[in-house]
Amino acid sequence: MIRLDKFLSEMGLGTRSEVKKLLKTKQVTVNKAVVSKPETKVNPDTDEVCLNGSKIEYKKYEYYLFNKPKGCVSATKDNVHGTVMDYITDAVHDDLFPVGRLDIDTEGLLLITNDGALSHELLSPSKHVAKTYFARIDGEVTQDDIISFKEGIDIGEERLTKPAELVIKKSGSVSEIELTITEGKFHQVKRMFEARGKRVIYLKRISMGPLKLTDDLKTGTYRALTQAETDALRQINCGK
Ligand code: URA
Repeated sequence: MIRLDKFLSEMGLGTRSEVKKLLKTKQVTVNKAVVSKPETKVNPDTDEVCLNGSKIEYKKYEYYLFNKPKGCVSATKDNVHGTVMDYITDAVHDDLFPVGRLDIDTEGLLLITNDGALSHELLSPSKHVAKTYFARIDGEVTQDDIISFKEGIDIGEERLTKPAELVIKKSGSVSEIELTITEGKFHQVKRMFEARGKRVIYLKRISMGPLKLTDDLKTGTYRALTQAETDALRQINCGK
């Protein structure tokens, strides 16, 4: 059970004092009866709360797929740079955060939510959630790199990296590749290529578990996940 004023303000109907005005002016009903006391307790799952006759659906969690641009940090606050949260302008709740990190110069798919349990699952090393990156590499990427990435690379950690799938899209003095990894070590993709004597010059995440970045989602924009996407995320249980 939660307070009615909290319910209304969490659903984006205004600040606590704004929603108190809605209550005072008898615009809100609970199970068809006008309720004006902000402290009234409601059960969001079973009570029908309406504003001027329209039902307000209770959404505890929000999930957004963001196409991160370069230049912002994957954090909720930063003293120096803008953050990914600056782009999320119409969220209802104020406790959203990015799930994991992309470097300041990395673009692409970032999940933004206020579902801490789901975030924990997605980032848990034991879940081996696959992340695919598109990258441009300064240098020629070769079959030896494919084998080496499959076998595991020494990037200065206690253990070699887990087997990663490298697909060469274009080979040349600047190569284009897709790399799928199931870990999330700091600067992992850049360090893997560095260990092979090559430098990542552009990096973009294009998928994470069941989520895919599509061309219609422009850099710097976001959209709500579909029900099928949130259902697929909740089913993440790979590696077990
Ligand atoms: N690997 C990197 O090196 N950077 C990222 O932002 C993500 C993965």
